[in-house]
Amino acid sequence: MRTQVGIIGAGPAGLMLSHLLHRHGIDSVVIESRSREYVEHRLRAGVLEQGSVDLLRDTGLGARLDREGLRHEGIELRFDGESHRVPMTGLTGRAITVYGQQEVVKDMIAARLAAGGTILFEAPAERLSGLDSAPVIHFRYQNRDEELHCDFVVGCDGYHGISRPSVPDGVLTTYERTYPFAWLGVLAAAPPAVDELIYAHHERGFALYSMRSPQISRLYLQVPADEDIADWPDERIWAELRTRLETVPDWTLNEGPVLEKSITPLRSLVVEPMQWQRLYLAGDAVHIVPPTGAKGMNLALADVALLGDAFATWYADGSTDLLDGYSRTALRRVWRAQQFSWWMTSMLHRLNADDPYEAKLQSATLRYVTTSPAYATSLAENYVGLPEV
Ligand code: FAD
Ligand code: DHB
Repeated sequence: MRTQVGIIGAGPAGLMLSHLLHRHGIDSVVIESRSREYVEHRLRAGVLEQGSVDLLRDTGLGARLDREGLRHEGIELRFDGESHRVPMTGLTGRAITVYGQQEVVKDMIAARLAAGGTILFEAPAERLSGLDSAPVIHFRYQNRDEELHCDFVVGCDGYHGISRPSVPDGVLTTYERTYPFAWLGVLAAAPPAVDELIYAHHERGFALYSMRSPQISRLYLQVPADEDIADWPDERIWAELRTRLETVPDWTLNEGPVLEKSITPLRSLVVEPMQWQRLYLAGDAVHIVPPTGAKGMNLALADVALLGDAFATWYADGSTDLLDGYSRTALRRVWRAQQFSWWMTSMLHRLNADDPYEAKLQSATLRYVTTSPAYATSLAENYVGLPEV
């Protein structure tokens, strides 16, 4: 099998890249280890930056997003028994849209297949060869060993993929931070009690109130890193959510049947550079952010927007300028998001309980960001996404 650009992974990064390349008349094949059903129902992020929404709309993927996405112009920070609204749109002129990652993925798959694109599901990539001149993706498909020959390989296969580990030792540098906590995420059939997201700082830990639709709530609780989901029956989850969120007068949570729950560890990670020979890396395959800043999916889309243009230029006139600059350009946005995500995480979570100095600093930061328009604008412009970094 042969194509121009071989893409590993049918998450937001891989699918969007395939879509962008198609619009430039460039052929690609997406190799995905999981089934279509699995990737379309994998519950993950929910917040799209303005730039991501613009990208989806401008490339013909905005129809359902415009109908079903929830445009939000502010967020609430809740702490010390007080609510404070950060008016993101008032401060920046931009907004975010709440629309589940699995909905974005469904829209992209539908668009690729309608355009005659090739996505091979249940096709795990096993190894790469020929990256210095004539790349080959070796993969399993329908119980057979297969090869995809291509001009370039783009690894969009997430943190556990095979792309990044295919680069020889000593080439890449890893920058990493782990946190001693995780997020327990719940999807519930309960109408959200709020119009905007609530990020709550509480002495028992962080809580986040989000949503997917007027009928479905999405909620998160900070829990210890090694927590077992089996220790969290639904009633315990609701009790903890009430404790951390019902801290302001006349405000109650709407409860409903729990549809899904899981625990995700938090980490920060960047691997540099994002390219080696004819292998380019994008999205979670090369960088991970803790979810507090809602940046993961947005970064994945921003990476492949750069790659789409870079390949278009190369195939148009052989110019390597954009391809050569890809890693350097992408890493500027990656590190901006790293700093913001780390900052939001540090401000909102329960950190070291034995360090009262740290707790006082957190309170000072929260008080400052909710009283100073200058500091609030910094939060807002990062949250809605900076157009240029
Ligand atoms: P992915 O979406 O991970 O896609 C990678 C794809 O590659 C997958 O479909 C995988 O099956 C496939 N793959 C892997 N290995 C192979 C192989 N060998 N061969 C072929 N295919 C392969 N971000 C937020 O902002 N908020 C959140 O609440 C949030 N929650 C998250 C929860 C979880 C459990 C995880 C893992 C991530 C979460 N994120 C969240 C981050 C966000 O979802 C990611 O940043 C986003 O999915 C990145 O997109 P991607 O396309 O780079 O990678
Ligand atoms: C959601 C996830 C996030 O990580 C976040 O910061 C805000 C919202 C969500 O899943 O809705």
